Amino acid sequence: MRAVLKIGGSLIQDEKGDIRVERFAEYAKVILKLREENTEITSIVVGGGKTARKYIEAARRLGVAEGLCDEIGIRAAQLNAQIMVGALDREAYPTIPETLQEVAEAAATGKIVVVGGLQPGQSTNAVAALVAERIKADMLINATNVDGVYTKDPKKDPSAEKLDQVTVREIQEIINEKGFFAGKYELFDMVALKILERSKIPTWIINGEDPKNILRIVAGENVGTLIVY
Ligand code: UTP
Repeated sequence: MRAVLKIGGSLIQDEKGDIRVERFAEYAKVILKLREENTEITSIVVGGGKTARKYIEAARRLGVAEGLCDEIGIRAAQLNAQIMVGALDREAYPTIPETLQEVAEAAATGKIVVVGGLQPGQSTNAVAALVAERIKADMLINATNVDGVYTKDPKKDPSAEKLDQVTVREIQEIINEKGFFAGKYELFDMVALKILERSKIPTWIINGEDPKNILRIVAGENVGTLIVY
């Protein structure tokens, strides 16, 4: 069993942008434990978090192009990815790939490949889908700060209900074009959805505030939302 794990930026940085160091250590522990068992987290994709939003905000105030804002977000995600490499120590591939081809080459070494952003116009959720597709992962686990996919934004609307399963079309309806700007991709972006739809990668959206939820998903428990095709 080969899985790709996406770790949302909010799980590894707090709202001020401080690094949640313990969280990196907890994730490393869970990933290495899984490796000893039957599931290999072949690759980890890390979000840009508050650092990305802070820097993008500053750049936007200077009136820079959206594409440059994206490039700044990509660098921020790569910075977080480098800390993850440190947390995994010898088990991690030491450099952060910047293209899918580099991801594939790094994965061929058998080390855990940690990735940040790749190209403008997408979020790290798209990176996770692209990486899972490229390395033929059996599963994508998307760890966020909510319990799964809700009918509405659970942080803004208390009537929002959590779904056990969801289709790509349903996700599209939930998002319904809030607009796609650097640092502001909600839930999933279009690139991520298109890749998931064509490759039909079994994808779980789980709450990563408890990294042990990853062990629960691998053990077959339903602790989030499964994207079905
Ligand atoms: P994310 O939006 O993916 O990180 O990347 P986040 O804010 O931590 O979100 P979650 O919690 O992980 O989902 C930050 C920004 O970097 C740019 C985008 O502007 C994105 O909003 N980015 C990232 C890209 O342009 N391309 C990439 O491949 C990745």
